[in-house]
Amino acid sequence: MRIILLGAPGVGKGTQASLLAQALNIPKIATGDMLRTAVQEQSSLGLKAKSFMDAGHLVPDDVIIGLAVDRIHQADCQPGFIFDGFPRTLAQAQALQEHQVNIDQVIEIQVSDEEIIHRLSGRRIHLSSGRIYHTHFNPPKIEGKDDHTGEDLIQREDDKEVTIRKRLQVYREQTEALVSYYKNMPGDAPEFHTISGVGDTNEIHKKMLELLQFKR
Ligand code: AP5
Repeated sequence: MRIILLGAPGVGKGTQASLLAQALNIPKIATGDMLRTAVQEQSSLGLKAKSFMDAGHLVPDDVIIGLAVDRIHQADCQPGFIFDGFPRTLAQAQALQEHQVNIDQVIEIQVSDEEIIHRLSGRRIHLSSGRIYHTHFNPPKIEGKDDHTGEDLIQREDDKEVTIRKRLQVYREQTEALVSYYKNMPGDAPEFHTISGVGDTNEIHKKMLELLQFKR
C-alpha cells in the first residue's frame, strides 16, 4: 500500500507515520528527516537545504523530487511506503504521476494553528532514529534522552515560534492546494480521508487503521 500523510507542520504526520510503518510493516519516508540527516552530515544536499529549512521555507522541488523518487525505488519500498512530508507542492505531486507512482490512500490530518504552535515548541527529536517526543504530551523516560539509546534529544532549529508561523504560512500558500488536487484527481485516484489529529496518539492511529482496513 502506498500512503501519503498530508497536513500542516506539527499535526502529527511523523508520529502517525511511524506507528503506521510498524503496523503495516512498510517504511516511512520522511523527506524532512532525510534532509536533517544530510544537514548533520554536511553533505552537498545538506549544505544546499539548511538555509531554506532554518528559515521555514521549502527546499527547491528539483532537489526533493530526486531524493524521494530514488528512495521509493529501493527494495524495502516495493511492498509499499508511507510518505511523511512529501509531496508538498503541486510540482512534487505531478512528478509522482510522471514517474507513474500510483498512490492508494491519502490521509489529511487536521489540527488548529494554536495547538500546532504548542506542540512544536515542546517537540524534541532523536536525530539518528527520527523518534519524536514532546516535553509534555510524550516525554522521554529520562529528560532530554532517547528512551532506546540514551543519546541526547535535540530541539529542531525550525521549531522557534517565528519560524513555526512562517512554516504554517508556507503550508497554506504551497501545500494546502494538494488537498483539492487529490480529492478531485481524475482516473486512478487515491482514496482520500480527513481525520482530526487532536487526542490520544494511539486512538488516532486506531482510527487511521480503521480507514485503511481491508485495503492492504
Ligand atoms: P518536516 O520535517 O517534514 O516538517 P513538517 O512537515 O513541518 O512537519 P513536522 O515534522 O514539523 O510535524 P509532523 O506533522 O511530522 O508532527 P510530529 O509527528 O513531529 O520538514 C522540515 C523542513 O524540511 C520543511 O520546512 C522544508 O524546509 C523541508 N522539507 C521537507 N520535506 C520537503 C518537501 N517535500 N519539499 C520541500 N521542502 C521539504 O508531531 C509534532 C509534535 O507534536 C511532537 O512533539 C509530537 O510528540 C507531538 N504530537 C504528535 N501527535 C500528537 C497528539 N495527538 N497530541 C499531542 N501531541 C502530539
